[in-house]
Amino acid sequence: MTDLLFSPFAIKHLTLRNRLGVAPMTRMSSVADSIPRQDVLDFLVRRAENGAAIVYTEAIVTDYESAQGYPGQARLTTQRQIDAWARVTDGIRKAGAVSVMQMFHCGRMAWPEINPAGRAIAPSAVTPQQLNPLTGQPYPVPDVISRFDIEHVIHGFGETARGAVAAGFDGIEIHGAHGYLISQFLSAYSNRREDDYGGSAERRCRFALEVIRAVRSVVPADRLLLFRISNWGVADMEVSLFADAAEWQEVIGRLVHEPLDALSVSTYDYRTPAFGTTLTMAALTRQMTALPLLICGQISDRASAEEALTDADIALSSKSILLNPEWVADVRAGKSLPVRRAEEANIAYTTEPLP
Ligand SMILES: Cc1cc2nc3c(=O)[nH]c(=O)nc-3n(C[C@H](O)[C@H](O)[C@H](O)COP(=O)(O)O)c2cc1C
Repeated sequence: MTDLLFSPFAIKHLTLRNRLGVAPMTRMSSVADSIPRQDVLDFLVRRAENGAAIVYTEAIVTDYESAQGYPGQARLTTQRQIDAWARVTDGIRKAGAVSVMQMFHCGRMAWPEINPAGRAIAPSAVTPQQLNPLTGQPYPVPDVISRFDIEHVIHGFGETARGAVAAGFDGIEIHGAHGYLISQFLSAYSNRREDDYGGSAERRCRFALEVIRAVRSVVPADRLLLFRISNWGVADMEVSLFADAAEWQEVIGRLVHEPLDALSVSTYDYRTPAFGTTLTMAALTRQMTALPLLICGQISDRASAEEALTDADIALSSKSILLNPEWVADVRAGKSLPVRRAEEANIAYTTEPLP
């Protein structure tokens, strides 16, 4: 019998050596120059050396205006930033893995004090209901994003993608998940606009499609373009960002019409049936596209990783691979491995170098 988990997988011209990867993880470690601490960069290379087939960066901020949502986030536009990340992509390539830069704009999930522009922008002037867990304060009421802002934001995605290409990343991912700016446009929970960018699912997709097209125009054909999407956001986590399976599938259908090379679906738990159906998020997505699919959410051991591949091609881990440098080898060996709790992952934000 073939060992699917440890069989190669081709995406475009690239071959992943197995089906396991490191999910994007924000570390908030950049103290100067928007460049992460060296141990945070080394952590990614070590995961590649230890067998991961695909390694994501943290969410990189797309401009010096209002994109930043957390302290110590990284950017990728200056030569110093490009040089720092080029050493990471070299290390990942030498270890036989594929590197992907993820980029985001936080939108209404802003913390104006740490944001160079001191402002928050979003599709509509609506805040999440919960407090910002890092400040204990309400999120600020965002400015309704203007045409001028939209152009600036899209330009930032394009320039950050150019930085990633210069730094040697194999892939570039647009973060359209977790309730950040692009996700805010996609969901009627945060998008109350009555213009071309709001209302129907088609109009709520417009901003995402503009970002995808702008980024693709600066990403050469020999690099992957990926898009991450979810039905949950990091604030008001219990809210379903899409109304039902039909709306989810309509949005997926519109995205996969665009020049994307893969789609990444982020869930709390890959096994959970979605939208009151009997199908998982991955299965509902698979019905709409033959594009390579990455899936994430409580994949902790060999059995869960294999099961997650029923309706997806690549299994990403965040907390398990964060806390265990030997995770890929342990999965391969079929070791009994715990499902990691969210609190355990807080170590990601300390100054303690992780193994
Ligand atoms: C410390 C930490 C940082 C994260 N940062 C990001 C991020 O920058 N971008 C993103 O798309 N998801 C981020 N996530 C979410 C993970 O990529 C993943 O979707 C989620 O943790 C579920 O996977 P898991 O059950 O394997 O942990 C983060 C998760 C953790 C634990």
